[in-house]
Amino acid sequence: MYIPLSGVSADKENEGKKEESRHVQNGALQITHLTFAYPGQAPVLRDISFAVPFQEHCVLTGVNGAGKSTLMKLLLGDLTPQTGEITIVSDKQTFPCTQRFFAYVPQEPELLNISFYENMTLDCCRFGKVPDRNEVEEYAEMLGIHDRILCFPDGYDTIVTENGKDLSLGEKQKICLIRALLSPAPCVLMDEPEHGLDTKTREAFFECLRQNQRMVIMISHTKDSLKFFNKEVNLQNGILKRIDSVSKIQYNIL
Ligand SMILES: Nc1ncnc2c1ncn2[C@@H]1O[C@H](COP(=O)(O)OP(=O)(O)OP(=O)(O)O)[C@@H](O)[C@H]1O
Ligand SMILES: [Mg+2]
Repeated sequence: MYIPLSGVSADKENEGKKEESRHVQNGALQITHLTFAYPGQAPVLRDISFAVPFQEHCVLTGVNGAGKSTLMKLLLGDLTPQTGEITIVSDKQTFPCTQRFFAYVPQEPELLNISFYENMTLDCCRFGKVPDRNEVEEYAEMLGIHDRILCFPDGYDTIVTENGKDLSLGEKQKICLIRALLSPAPCVLMDEPEHGLDTKTREAFFECLRQNQRMVIMISHTKDSLKFFNKEVNLQNGILKRIDSVSKIQYNIL
């Protein structure tokens, strides 16, 4: 997922970013008639269509195997649909949706063999943004990982080994969440990020997202998280079963 945006001149890249940012602020992410099958298998997703406006927070629900993570991989461009499109719609025009649009928090935290600081600021670097050390530490304090990092001999500059073997699952997840919070991407995709997080951290994370005013698409099985969303999209056996607004969703999650 963390592909450096090389091979494009700085001017062109900046122009592209300005254009993109204008589209996303006025527009919506649109998924249209998306069908996907893994090789040699029946379709996992069939004719899925829905839109998420910029700044809306959308929760993706459904039983195990419903196709939620597959849909997220299609959004990220890691998989290609057999039919259908993922686009940005703005001012009645349609634009391609690139990988630059997303920050991603995977279901299993992925840390690289670089320092804590570099792991947290990875997305900043991918997007060409200079990270702000104070901001990094503020997020680490808000999510309750700052003191733990300072226990290591080199603090934030400590090199992470073997995907963070010295950290708990929740601590690793916090580093991935800070990476997404610091990312300038307009949309945050999260695949069950509560997995391993305590209640206080989860609430702090959602508060940070709310202040950020970004589009969020998050997979969840957790009823407690529903209050943080405007919209629920429910998948059942690869078909979009329901789209509900916030007033109804507290009763529906699977
Ligand atoms: N690489 C793959 N090759 C073949 N089939 C796959 C592959 N990955 C997932 N599947 C199948 O596709 C279906 C949807 O999987 P997916 O991971 O999208 O479900 P999910 O809704 O995220 O489930 P969960 O809640 O358990 O995470 C499942 O039946 C799964 O077995
Ligand atoms: Mg999944």
